[in-house]
Amino acid sequence: MSPAIGGTLARLDGRAKVSGSARYSGEVPIPHLAHAVLIGAPVANARITAVDATEAEQSAGVLAVLTHLNLPKVAMQPSLLPSLAGLAAPGHTFFPMQDDTVHYAGQHVAVVVADTLERAEHAATLVRIDYDTTPPVTLLEEIKDQAYEPQKIFGGLLPGRQVRGDIEAGLRDAEVRVEAMYEFAANHHNPIEPSTTTAAWDEVGRLTLYDGIQGPTSTQLTAAAFLGVPPAQIRVVSNYVGGSFGSKAMVWPHATLAAMAARHVGRPVRLALNREQMFTSCGHREQQRQHLTLGARADGKLVAVRHHKLSLTSHFDDWAEPSLQSPAIIYDYPNYEGIYRLGRGNINTPTFTRAPGEATGMFAMESAMDELAERIGVDPVELRLRNCSDTDPATGDPWSSSGLRECLERGAELFGWAGRDPRPRQRREGNWLIGTGMATAAYPHAQPVNPQRARARIYSDGSVIVEAGVSEFGTGISTAMTLVAADGLGVTVDQVRFAGGNTDMPNITAAVGSAGAGAASAAVHLSVTALREQLIGMAVADEQSPLHGADPAAVVVEGGRMALRDRPDAGETYSAMLQRKLVPDVEAIGNWIPPAQDVGHGMHTFGAQFAEVGVDAELGLIRVRRMVGVFAPGRVLNRRTAHSQLMGGMLWGLGQTLLEATRMDARSGRWANASLADYLVPVNADSPDVVVDTVEVHENVVNPLGVKGVGEIGVVGVAAAIGNAVYHATGYRARSLPIALDDIL
Ligand code: MOS
Repeated sequence: MSPAIGGTLARLDGRAKVSGSARYSGEVPIPHLAHAVLIGAPVANARITAVDATEAEQSAGVLAVLTHLNLPKVAMQPSLLPSLAGLAAPGHTFFPMQDDTVHYAGQHVAVVVADTLERAEHAATLVRIDYDTTPPVTLLEEIKDQAYEPQKIFGGLLPGRQVRGDIEAGLRDAEVRVEAMYEFAANHHNPIEPSTTTAAWDEVGRLTLYDGIQGPTSTQLTAAAFLGVPPAQIRVVSNYVGGSFGSKAMVWPHATLAAMAARHVGRPVRLALNREQMFTSCGHREQQRQHLTLGARADGKLVAVRHHKLSLTSHFDDWAEPSLQSPAIIYDYPNYEGIYRLGRGNINTPTFTRAPGEATGMFAMESAMDELAERIGVDPVELRLRNCSDTDPATGDPWSSSGLRECLERGAELFGWAGRDPRPRQRREGNWLIGTGMATAAYPHAQPVNPQRARARIYSDGSVIVEAGVSEFGTGISTAMTLVAADGLGVTVDQVRFAGGNTDMPNITAAVGSAGAGAASAAVHLSVTALREQLIGMAVADEQSPLHGADPAAVVVEGGRMALRDRPDAGETYSAMLQRKLVPDVEAIGNWIPPAQDVGHGMHTFGAQFAEVGVDAELGLIRVRRMVGVFAPGRVLNRRTAHSQLMGGMLWGLGQTLLEATRMDARSGRWANASLADYLVPVNADSPDVVVDTVEVHENVVNPLGVKGVGEIGVVGVAAAIGNAVYHATGYRARSLPIALDDIL
């Protein structure tokens, strides 16, 4: 098999997954296992006035009923945990079952533990809890004048307000203005595997947590802080994770509750969220509204952008997804004002959800750009090209790499954009009105804030193991890392085994913000190149080696064989050398210290999206007929898995545009469609012909291999491309997602 980075390698974990031999956190066989069931509050704003667990406790097989009355207090206040930018990931600053307050429906109020899942579920129905309720606030529409401007949003990572230039003057002097309000329904992640934690303490107080998570270390450090146990006593295993999309980026309280329950009953405990609990226990994309005003010259050159956003957050966290970040820098204009406002509601804290921020913010931006293009009579692709920025407009720094122009041009070519009649309602096939639309995609490149490590070891038979504590949650990371390791060490893919998924391995930050491949590949690359140097050093120092005395820089390695670049006959394999020298194995650590986020370069990933829709003129049905996405994600490590991630992202974008909405029943304060039957996601039958392509850019700033990541850019811009195509087909301008039939009719 060719080891080259950028090659096409089928998922190495594919067989285990499709044959069922892959074991997820809820499937790990553990002797003497007990099962925990969470009880969620049925009301959204209340105090617990009484708990009667007698009947449940007497029910067959029940080991414990834990409520705020008998659950130990957590060892550290959740608000004091080092948050997103640090090491642990508390998810939100609220830990349930510490007092009698109910802040949102579904909040964990009791944990029932029994010897079987069925007995725990039955006993959970017997726990009687009385509530003193107050009418909840659960919709943005109920916030009225209660909104406030937070200092920081997004777990404290970003400021609540950003400005440059003079927005008032910029908008006043603009020759054309486009102003609109955009509305977004709440969205949920809905991975196939609901979050599950299996917790087992041993006789000397060490804890093993099998947990579905985007980074095992996050669970380790968070559980350590809450439990008051040193991290060294906690091992987290996360071998397979059945999808996440942001729902397993943060460590939500159920993981710690599983460990607390296991400690309480003195047995290993498994705690799995059910599908309905997934809607209240691990965040969501918040319901939000964005008010955007563009000011431009008559030729379409932007001069000012005002972008305000109002989000519904929880009672305890200033959370908004960062929708304003990419629109603020995607084009070159001097005057900008971005302000986040929040309203508090009786909901759990929102979280990262599939291109958090960009998926919504770029819908507003790129829908408005389409209106601007029409208003001034400039082709939408040409309008973008006129506004592309060669530098980061917020700082004036050059981009580490861009490729936006190439993506727009390549996308237009692949899609067949040229010669498009811009007027709406011009193409018709039978009952179907046909339209095309496009949008720019952008996603910030986030750098990890701490060192990233990997370990590479070669044995004297030539086999290689490379380890890094990444989590494989469907991204293809282990397959891509196998390629990176083989490429860097100069061996074949078959010689390498990559292992990740637990905290015994060198630490890699949780894969969030599309930064997973960049972080892991940097560490893996450095580990194997260090190992390679060590091995070559051994050879040139060894009198019995054909390479003795050679300049290490003149040695090349291919298929595990070291040789002189200009004398390929002079050489030997790693394996032959190690066997001769009686060295059983050699090991090296890669330690990558990421460059600071904001020094010297703007770091962003760009792309372009194109869509063609058919809209049934009588029924209002919208069918996306084809999509083209072209992206510039820097170095592509494994073409096959990278393209599937981008394609998957584009289909999530389709879901966001036409299907996905979690609707709140404001009377009860509960999500009304918390099931996969009622929350619609696209399936194969909804999926059109999708073309994915990437353009190469020269990227040598972000990390050693120039990887900007493909996890989320595929989602961004899809909603605007489809919305703009719907406008082109029908003349109806969608400003609310998802777009519904009755919006169009
Ligand atoms: Mo990703 S939605 O930033 O975990």
